[in-house]
Amino acid sequence: MKILALYCSKGGVGKTTASVNLAYAAAQQGYATLLCDLDPQGASSYYFRIRPKKKFNSDKLLGGKLDKFIRGTDFDDLDLLPAHFSHRNLDLQLDRDNKSATHLRDILMTQKKDYDLALLDCPPNLTLLSENVIASADMVISPVIPTTLSILSFEQLLKLFHKTGADKKKAHAFFSMVERRKSLHNSVISKYRKYRLFMKSMIPYMAEVEKMGITRKPVGAALKRSTAAIAYDRLWKEIESRGQLR
Ligand SMILES: Nc1ncnc2c1ncn2[C@@H]1O[C@H](COP(=O)(O)OP(=O)(O)OP(=O)(O)O)[C@@H](O)[C@H]1O
Ligand SMILES: [Mg+2]
Repeated sequence: MKILALYCSKGGVGKTTASVNLAYAAAQQGYATLLCDLDPQGASSYYFRIRPKKKFNSDKLLGGKLDKFIRGTDFDDLDLLPAHFSHRNLDLQLDRDNKSATHLRDILMTQKKDYDLALLDCPPNLTLLSENVIASADMVISPVIPTTLSILSFEQLLKLFHKTGADKKKAHAFFSMVERRKSLHNSVISKYRKYRLFMKSMIPYMAEVEKMGITRKPVGAALKRSTAAIAYDRLWKEIESRGQLR
């Protein structure tokens, strides 16, 4: 089982949207996929209309007792570990309990018999949880809106890799919510797209993605051949082609 984290310290850049749609794309390609909603906001869980069981909380998560709390979705090969409000304390708990730098990996690997891929929808933080995510994941992908502040957040992520000694080869990015009519977007893309870290596939700003809040489904499940579904499929194939999930 491989671990893929959608991470960025900046909020509202498209982590959850990508997590949901890439998890769906991976499952459609036959990867037994577990989407883990680590964000107490619970947006990924909301998109799949799933609530955590009453007894679930961050202690159970960090204690590695996941089996009872994983829920099936409406889609083949796609399960969800829902978020819980108590996940807002994950940082404090990792610190208090003096957990190892790869604790998250250890607990997720308890599920390796059942899944090919664990995909993590991470909260927008730069904390101990972020360090654990970076150390635990096989691949960390950051959505970057082509603006100066979003690039700054990505640079902070690379600094965190440096500070923690994590392998920078695991760090990747893609341009998210791209609006080609904006000159700033075009100039940021042309400056950064040459770097290997950036995927060639980009996710445009699309009304059909915003509609996920109403349909509460991955875009490919709502409309299989929509532009948005094709864009996430393409991004998934490029992620896979980088070879770190084999
Ligand atoms: N490609 C897109 N086109 C249009 N809207 C988008 C796109 N991607 C994301 N959005 C919208 O932008 C908002 C933020 O997206 P999302 O929740 O995925 O970001 P996030 O990085 O997970 O945010 P947070 O940091 O709060 O967890 C949502 O309302 C979502 O519908
Ligand atoms: Mg989110």
